[in-house]
Amino acid sequence: MISKLFLTLLIFGSTFSQNQDPSPECLSIFRNAALKKHNELRALHGSPPLTLNLTISIFSQNYANYLAKNLMFAYNVSSYGMNLARALAPIGHLDCKYWADFMTKQWYDEKNIYEIKNPHNIASFRFTQLVWKDTSQIGIGLSIANISLNKNKYNFVYYVANYFKPDKTDVKIAEEFNVERSTVTKVFQRKDKYINLANEEATSKKSRIQLGYFSLVEEARYKWYLAAKSANIP
Ligand SMILES: *[C@@H]1O[C@H](CO)[C@@H](O)[C@H](O)[C@H]1NC(C)=O
Ligand SMILES: *[C@@H]1O[C@H](CO)[C@@H](O)[C@H](O)[C@H]1NC(C)=O
Ligand SMILES: *[C@@H]1O[C@H](CO)[C@@H](O)[C@H](O)[C@H]1NC(C)=O
Repeated sequence: MISKLFLTLLIFGSTFSQNQDPSPECLSIFRNAALKKHNELRALHGSPPLTLNLTISIFSQNYANYLAKNLMFAYNVSSYGMNLARALAPIGHLDCKYWADFMTKQWYDEKNIYEIKNPHNIASFRFTQLVWKDTSQIGIGLSIANISLNKNKYNFVYYVANYFKPDKTDVKIAEEFNVERSTVTKVFQRKDKYINLANEEATSKKSRIQLGYFSLVEEARYKWYLAAKSANIP
């Protein structure tokens, strides 16, 4: 458990990639575990359970495959809300349930950023996405790349979730998360800009291999912090 946790490192670039689809069993275990974990965490906030949507899962799977194939970690604009996670796992048997639970919980743990810091902080983007009340459906993709680092081989686990939220309005979001409506409006107006900034940030580090024990959440926090800062959002 601990070693798996420590292996959740942030890596930009690597020396070799071989896309490897998870088995249908693994994908099914992963999707169901991720859905269950989402719904447990949502229930803590009085948010209704999500259901899996096959169309959105296929969309998510294609995107996960694309990221794994190119060893990328980048958001893209789409009509869904998207959460991404990437983790380094020991090569060999992949514990599909473990990774679904662990990575979903990492998104949730951005709650602490939201609560401890000021309410204008948009760094907890993935947490808010996860517990969003108006969301009713989710699609989940999982893709695995083999990489090698310092002659050791690992699996890169890519997790993509897309959320379907038919009723999203700035007012509702602002109420739900107790932030000013203008902040929410600004964030959404500049969504493309944030995504580009986040992606540029990831690209600029592409050749750098970070073996520090940075969590995925740290990365997300950092990116969104940079995005907010450069957009002059308080
Ligand atoms: C699944 O998602 C698609 C695309 O967002 C949507 O058009 C479709 O109605 C959803 N399916 C169900 C059963 O709700
Ligand atoms: C990312 O978004 C752009 C613009 O919407 C689109 O052209 C491109 O195909 C998308 N890439 C992927 C991998 O979905
Ligand atoms: C990729 O990883 C899987 C297990 O995670 C392993 O069975 C397979 O041999 C690896 N492929 C290569 C080319 O190393």
